[in-house]
Amino acid sequence: MKLDHIGIAVDDLEAARKLYGQVLGLAVGPVEELPERKLRISFVDLGAGGAGLELLCPTDPDSAVGKFLASKGPGVQHLAYRVEDIQARLAELKAAGVRLVDEQARPGAHGCLVAFLHPKSTGGVLTELVQHTH
Ligand code: CO
Repeated sequence: MKLDHIGIAVDDLEAARKLYGQVLGLAVGPVEELPERKLRISFVDLGAGGAGLELLCPTDPDSAVGKFLASKGPGVQHLAYRVEDIQARLAELKAAGVRLVDEQARPGAHGCLVAFLHPKSTGGVLTELVQHTH
């Protein structure tokens, strides 16, 4: 597995895009709407290796990221690793006793398939698997 991205919960997407783009000088992508996850997101390209940041701004306080913001405030929310065959990897992890948030991979940002592992099984770090489909 390779690091794909680091998910960062933000309460103001435009302010975060300005911070990473204009202030820190990184390449910030467009805003994507993910209504099924009640999120607006924006990727930040960190260059070599392909890993990036995923800025996550909830559109509903009653969403996973909305609840995270309410309890912990803005900050690192999850780590995502790129895998080749997400469904096979989920089956392996389940067999190894890892608790899954998503038994089935579901559509994520820009056409990827994603699934989350439960932080109780991953040392308190919410962990996402990502399979790129292009
Ligand atoms: Co993510």
